This record gives sequence, C-alpha cells and structure tokens, in this order.
Amino acid sequence: ASHNLLLLPGDGIGPEIMGEAKGILNWFGKRGIASFETETALVGGASYDACGKAISEDTMKLADQADAVLFGAVGGPKWDGVPYDARPEAGLLRLRKDLGLFANLRPAICYPALADASSLKRDVVEGLDILILRELTGGVYFGEPKEIVTLENGEKRAVDTQLYTTHEIERIARVAFDLARTRRNKVSSAEKRNVMKSGVLWNQVVTKIGKEEYPDVQLEHVLADNCAMQLVRWPKQYDVIVCDNLFGDILSDVAAMLTGSLGMLPSASLGAPDPTTGQRKSLYEPVHGSAPDIAGRSLANPIAMIASVGMALRYSFGLGEAADLLDKAIANVLATGTRTKDIAEKGSNAVSTQEMGAAILKELESL
Ligand code: NAI
Ligand code: MG
Repeated sequence: ASHNLLLLPGDGIGPEIMGEAKGILNWFGKRGIASFETETALVGGASYDACGKAISEDTMKLADQADAVLFGAVGGPKWDGVPYDARPEAGLLRLRKDLGLFANLRPAICYPALADASSLKRDVVEGLDILILRELTGGVYFGEPKEIVTLENGEKRAVDTQLYTTHEIERIARVAFDLARTRRNKVSSAEKRNVMKSGVLWNQVVTKIGKEEYPDVQLEHVLADNCAMQLVRWPKQYDVIVCDNLFGDILSDVAAMLTGSLGMLPSASLGAPDPTTGQRKSLYEPVHGSAPDIAGRSLANPIAMIASVGMALRYSFGLGEAADLLDKAIANVLATGTRTKDIAEKGSNAVSTQEMGAAILKELESL
C-alpha cells in the first residue's frame, strides 16, 4: 500500500534537512520496501509570509487526511514582531491540538561513535537506548484556572492547575505498555504521588492498566525527582519512562543531553487510534528548532530529521525492519567518522548537510 505523507519543512534549516529526509523516503520507494506519496506545504514563518497565518486551513485539512506529518522546524528572528496568534510556533501548536497528539515519544539513543560527546562517562551512556513518553495535551500547561490575580491587599497570586482525568492517564499508559512490548518490556512511571493528588491518581491508573491489560510487562514506579537523578547516574536501568506533561518536558531534556547533540534527536507525537482503522494521527519532527544561526549554509545535521523518518516507518507504517535498517545505516556512517560540524571534534573535517544525507543513502545501499 502507498503511504500518504504531508511534508512541512518550515523555516531556517527546516527545508535543508527535509531535503535529506525526502532522499531517504525516495530510496525506500525505489527499493520497493514501501511506497510514499508526499505533498509539501508551508508552515510557520514561511506560511505567515504567504498567507498571514502560521498554518492555513488548507494545510490543516491536508494534515488531517495524511497518514503522517513530517515537520521540519519553525521560527526565526524575522518573525519576532508578528501578532501572537500568527507566530511561527502557533502552527505547530495548532497541529498538536487539532490532531489530538497526546503522546510525545522522545528516544534517547547514544551511538557508540558519539559516546565521548556526552557530558557523562562513556560507560554510563554507550549503547544507551531509552524512550521518554511525555503526555502532551494535558496537565499543568493547560489546566484551568490559569491566571494571575491581584488580591485585596495589592499582592498578586499566580495560579496554574495540574489536572488529569482517568481517561487521559489510561490512554498514555497504554501507549507506554504497547511501546515497551516492542522493546525491553519495562515501563517506569514517574510522578510525585508523595506531594500531588494527580500523582496519586496517575500511579493508581497506570498500576491498574498494567495489571489488567499488560501483566507481561514489568512496571515500576519512580518519583519524578529521583528519576531525574537516576537518568544522570545510570540511565541504562530504564526502557520506557512515562510521565505527565511537565515532568516529561524536563526529563526528556535531561535524557537528550545524555546523548550529545541536538542535531541527532528525533521525536514523534501520536494521537488516539481511529476506532475503525486503528490508525493514529501522527507527527514526526526533530527536537531542535530552526537554527537561524546556521540556516542556508548547508551546515545543519540532518540526522535528527532522518531519524524522525525512521520513527514514522516504525510507528505509523508498521515498517520496523526498514526503521532498523535506517538506524543501522546512521550508526555505521557515524562509526566511519563522518560528522557534520555540530558533532565533529574541534578542528577536524566536517561534511555538509547534503554529504551526510548522501553518506547515509550510500550506507543503506550497501546493507
Ligand atoms: P535551535 O534548536 O534552533 O538551535 C540551538 C542551537 O543548536 C543553535 O546553535 C543551532 O545552530 C544548533 N542546532 C540546532 N539544530 C541543529 C542541527 N540540526 N544541526 C546542527 N546544529 C543544530 O534552538 P533556538 O536557537 O533556541 O531557536 C531558534 C528558533 O527555532 C527560534 O525561533 C525558536 O522559537 C525555534 N524553535 C522551533 C522549534 C520547533 O520548530 N519545533 C523547537 C525549538 C525552537
Ligand atoms: Mg523543553
């Protein structure tokens, strides 16, 4: 079957890295491993320049109809002054909200060839392969009331509301257990049940789903602050870590830095399965932004974007073997010492965005 992909390159280095992602998709097509139909549209500042909105209704429609969305990056100083609702990030937030992308997957993989680039010791991170699963559409970033009020005595009081329902916790828990089954079969659920009611409910619901629906998957509970400490002490103890929006924001950034450069980190955001087809809405994007400081100079590392394609193969198209092949090609290319500037040692030779893409294609060809 042919898979229908919407490509949203965006701003800054977005179009450069998307070009390399397209090359990878074409290769899988030519090889007959899978066939893709792609459509490309504007998002972010590029869309604002064209139509005054960070994403148009036509593009939203395309995103809704696509099997998956590949997103580059948005933003840049050029759009600093645009109205708040039209700012480049609004395009991404609208996609997340309208597609109901509640599950954010952020793998932290440490390629052996890059283990010395981590801020931790080689033996702590070498071969690391963990996945942080962050709830993305609920919790304290969205809960109401959310306000700053002035009290009678003139003091101000700020309120944010951490709010989770059973349903929201159940659906993210199921994603965590399903993912663990395809990996090392272990889920670590991080919350703060010792001081937060939402942590108590989170703990109860995850426990119940685990017992009733996934008795074969190992489940442990960890306090979120301890989890941050453990991630830096011995991250290989984890497989899938599931947590709420706020803790996930922080823990995924901690995990990211275990592995080296921003230019290497992919992510996926998934929605609920369609009741009839089982297909989930999904968006794949690098963790990094539009890197205006290096845009247009062929300096960007395309690996985060290319690895995001790998996640699409794995999680949207059921092409786990193709995704494994792509990961292997990336690891092999790094092992030969091929580096873009962001991951090269100071003073050593670096390749361009396009040369890195070509090296990965060439490696795929030889595997
Ligand atoms: P950034 O991630 O764009 O850049 C941070 C640093 O990492 C820069 O020095 C950049 O050159 C480098 N870098 C990032 N990706 C790289 C890659 N693939 N290869 C080599 N080096 C890379 O974050 P920053 O500078 O805070 O934000 C720049 C713009 O991007 C802002 O407008 C921001 O709002 C936007 N942004 C967009 C995101 C998205 O589209 N999802 C996420 C984060 C920021
Ligand atoms: Mg963050």
